[in-house]
Amino acid sequence: MTVTIVGSQLGDEGKGGVVDLYGDAADIVARYQGGDNAGHTVVSDGEKYKLSLVPSGAVRGKIGVLGNGCVVNPETLFSELDQLRERGLEPDVRVAERAHAILPYHRVLDGIEEKEKADLAAGTTGRGIGPAYEDKMGRRGVRIGDLLDPAVLRERLEYVVPQKRALAEDVFGVTLEGETADAFDVDHLFESYRAYGERLATEGMTVDCGTFLQNRIDAGENVLLEGAQGTSIDIDHGVYPYVTSSNPTAGGASVGTGLGPTVVGQGEIIGIVKAYLSRVGTGPLPTELGGVEGQTPDYDSEGVDEEDEAEQLATYIRDEGGEYGTVTGRPRRVGWLDVPMLRHAARASGFTGLAVNHIDVLAGLEEVEVGHSYEFDGEEIFTVPPTTEQWGRCTANYRTFDGWPEVDWTAVAEEGYEAIPENARTYLEYLADELDAPLYAIGVGPGREQTVILERPYDS
Ligand code: GDP
Ligand code: IMO
Ligand code: MG
Repeated sequence: MTVTIVGSQLGDEGKGGVVDLYGDAADIVARYQGGDNAGHTVVSDGEKYKLSLVPSGAVRGKIGVLGNGCVVNPETLFSELDQLRERGLEPDVRVAERAHAILPYHRVLDGIEEKEKADLAAGTTGRGIGPAYEDKMGRRGVRIGDLLDPAVLRERLEYVVPQKRALAEDVFGVTLEGETADAFDVDHLFESYRAYGERLATEGMTVDCGTFLQNRIDAGENVLLEGAQGTSIDIDHGVYPYVTSSNPTAGGASVGTGLGPTVVGQGEIIGIVKAYLSRVGTGPLPTELGGVEGQTPDYDSEGVDEEDEAEQLATYIRDEGGEYGTVTGRPRRVGWLDVPMLRHAARASGFTGLAVNHIDVLAGLEEVEVGHSYEFDGEEIFTVPPTTEQWGRCTANYRTFDGWPEVDWTAVAEEGYEAIPENARTYLEYLADELDAPLYAIGVGPGREQTVILERPYDS
């Protein structure tokens, strides 16, 4: 059977940890969309692994698959695999021949376009994700299977690279020099990507993903489908244009692996929820606390009073949750839980269960609020409106919950659900009721053992 893990909010909900937890009972962990824009953390025996492309199951020695819906930067893939091997792991990763490759010009163009877009920029990770998916849809992409066939690779590059160079130079007026010039040089690209193709072939890493996974399922094996990003940054269901260029929602698990929707639908679809909101990037966020210059729309830090209660709460949650960029150290946007956003996610993916993480981060607050519904043009609404401009006009109607104390969370995880402080359980049960999906797991800390497990989906 399959279990699909889907981010319910804006990414970084703790998907990697849940994949690691349930991956124990899986034979294969497959990613179905995105690329090295993801950052999935697994904490195992006190060791922290931050994975951007290798599926999180690799830490437990499971077969990892990058499905056809992914965009794969081979340079990142091999450097991540090498690093894991240096740390004593033996990752076994397969890549769909139908997956698209990210080429160096995709990264360069990602940076150029972000600058050009100004207010419309999503604040991308700069990994070339959008430009690679554009080429896929424009039917001018280079697929992983093409890297194994030098004649095809050469033909693809000779067609597409001059167009990319013209785009950079003539449309955006950028002067290409040094490494940036190499990114648009057919011979250079051909040599480096042919070498990646040889390594993929030598290590026997490429697969026909749908057939590979279906055969394993038919043989009785368990497959875990690991979503990256989250519903509100889904290209179709998120805050367009401040989104990523793929479908993190459950439909993506089918098209992005080649498994039929009935196969994915017969399994479980688990929505991963962070007990508050965090966001890297722009766009509306009605339950935001305080703001972050350059990301919160119309926010000017000059005029902010440091005594402001929302700003202080934001700083508290940010510090407790470690909500600062891992590379830049920049504060992330944070806010109260947004229940309309979650109702939208539960419907779009059809959640059969929920994993709610980070309830330990909110411990110690006197009161915890949630945005229960929105006020939109004088009406109360319970889910998100379809356009981003409409979403930006929504204000949250709050519900207040009594806070819960800081406790020994590792002991709580050992004892089980009833050991969770009562007020936190009230909060969790409200959520399960509103989303009409049962609680499967509660994250009470970053470690594998800091999870209260209510359901093990492969056992049911
Ligand atoms: P992902 O992208 O959804 O896999 O999430 P990230 O790994 O980017 O971010 C989640 C962060 O929160 C990581 O540092 C995790 O180790 C940590 N984390 C996950 N679950 C919990 C939890 O329940 N409590 C706390 N305090 N941290 C958690
Ligand atoms: P995980 O899997 C949080 C955001 C970026 C930007 C937008 C588009 O760790 O949850 P992209 O580089 O994808 O074109 O950027 O999406 N973004 C994420 N935010 N977690 C992620 O992944 C993200 N992947 C992309 O910040 O706003
Ligand atoms: Mg992440």
